[in-house]
Amino acid sequence: MTQTPETIRAPKKRVAILISGRGSNMQALVTAARAPDYPAEIALVISNRPEAPGLAWAKEHGLPTLTLDHQLYENREHFEGQLQSVLEMSKIDLVALAGFMRLMTPGFVERWRGRMLNIHPSLLPLFKGLRTHEQALAAGVRISGCTVHFVSPEMDAGPIIAQAAVPVLPADTPETLAARVLEAEHRLYPQALSLVAQDQISLNADSIAFQRVGSEGINHADALFSPSL
Ligand code: GRF
Repeated sequence: MTQTPETIRAPKKRVAILISGRGSNMQALVTAARAPDYPAEIALVISNRPEAPGLAWAKEHGLPTLTLDHQLYENREHFEGQLQSVLEMSKIDLVALAGFMRLMTPGFVERWRGRMLNIHPSLLPLFKGLRTHEQALAAGVRISGCTVHFVSPEMDAGPIIAQAAVPVLPADTPETLAARVLEAEHRLYPQALSLVAQDQISLNADSIAFQRVGSEGINHADALFSPSL
């Protein structure tokens, strides 16, 4: 068959997902990446905790997995040195943090600048760190949500790729709000990774660059959705 420009697809980006626990966002990315036209493939799942339920799920589903137990390394640099070797050996293009509970050193973050994503369960820059849903309820906001961002040396502060908003209801507890936000996370992360894998969104010197926007490009609305009741 003669290949026209339309039929020639860019090679899929090779993604490593880093987890520490449950791994539901990892599952959402794995599921999305099964679609033949998804622009990324999940080449490796790495957990820094051997007992992470997400790691067991990934093994059961036949994904290439690796445990890098941070406790077995003398310090952060040694742990990250091993991580970097593995990522290079596996020819990884993009790293997706999905509930990965280790801070990265500025050196490692710089190496993966514009190629490492994270998902956070709030509308950043509000409610950084842990217990985001408690923070949202204490602040009395009527809308919360989630954010996918590029990782920067400062925690939960990197350039924002995509956000989804979720209503906060009067009877919400941290648990009910977390469950509603998590559903949005599972929709948002695959969309955001797809945008980055297609180079539709990338990182300039200090800000996000959007490539083709609107009708000529892909639907950015997919990665920017609002509450509906
Ligand atoms: C998610 O809420 C994510 O936003 C945060 O940690 C949680 C991980 O959940 N960074 P899971 O392991 O993906 O289920």
